[in-house]
Amino acid sequence: MVENNLIYNVQQLSKVYDTGKVKIKALDNISFAVPEGDMLTIMGRSGSGKSTLLRQMGLLDRPTSGGIIFEAMEVTALPEGDRTKLRLTSMGYVFQEYALLGELTAHQNVYLPGMVLGKMGSNYKQRAKELLELVGLGERIGHYPKELSGGEQQRVAIARALINSPSVLLADEPCANLDTISSKAVMETLVKLNAQLKVTIIFISHDPSDKQYAKSLIVLSDGRIAQEGNP
Ligand SMILES: Nc1ncnc2c1ncn2[C@@H]1O[C@H](COP(=O)(O)OP(=O)(O)OP(=O)(O)O)[C@@H](O)[C@H]1O
Ligand SMILES: [Mg+2]
Repeated sequence: MVENNLIYNVQQLSKVYDTGKVKIKALDNISFAVPEGDMLTIMGRSGSGKSTLLRQMGLLDRPTSGGIIFEAMEVTALPEGDRTKLRLTSMGYVFQEYALLGELTAHQNVYLPGMVLGKMGSNYKQRAKELLELVGLGERIGHYPKELSGGEQQRVAIARALINSPSVLLADEPCANLDTISSKAVMETLVKLNAQLKVTIIFISHDPSDKQYAKSLIVLSDGRIAQEGNP
């Protein structure tokens, strides 16, 4: 059976970190599904497993047990080369730190990953310009990161994450370093991108009021799902 309109199906996922001295069960047998086009927020106390879960979904780490079906394909057991390709072509990442290259303009920062992927004939410079316009920075494309506010830099990082037209954008506390007004601009940008580009967005937040931007919610507690459903 084709699992149409599910982008993720997370099945009995567990992750145990073995530090040598202690074993930490960061994810404890978690199962849930994410429909295509969702805007899902993952919340929960510090240490509840949010980043661990997002890293698993972003193929940045492998689970101890369980699996993840991404776009109808089992991806946990794939060879690393295939996982890297999926990361580059189907997933976009945004972290707390914007990690823009200071010696490049906003425009260059955004199109660089498109250039790296080297899709023949794709016009990544034009696409980068369009994405910067979409995140509200059309007037700033020639600016360097140091000439931009934190919130503006984060919106450049979001545009960069979208340059290869991923099907999912994974954001780990994208507003953690921002003030209230910049956070609002970033969150409203994500809502707009979800609506206009149809990109699935999964974001972690510490701020309960960010539920207003989500279509669905997962609350983690000690590596388990404590709450799930409508925000
Ligand atoms: N690389 C690691 N090695 C060992 N333990 C880890 C590692 N990464 C995370 N942990 C532990 O796993 C648990 C879950 O961590 P995780 O970073 O997923 O939490 P979080 O919900 O993202 O927390 P925060 O809100 O503080 O970012 C914590 O107990 C943490 O100490
Ligand atoms: Mg975290």
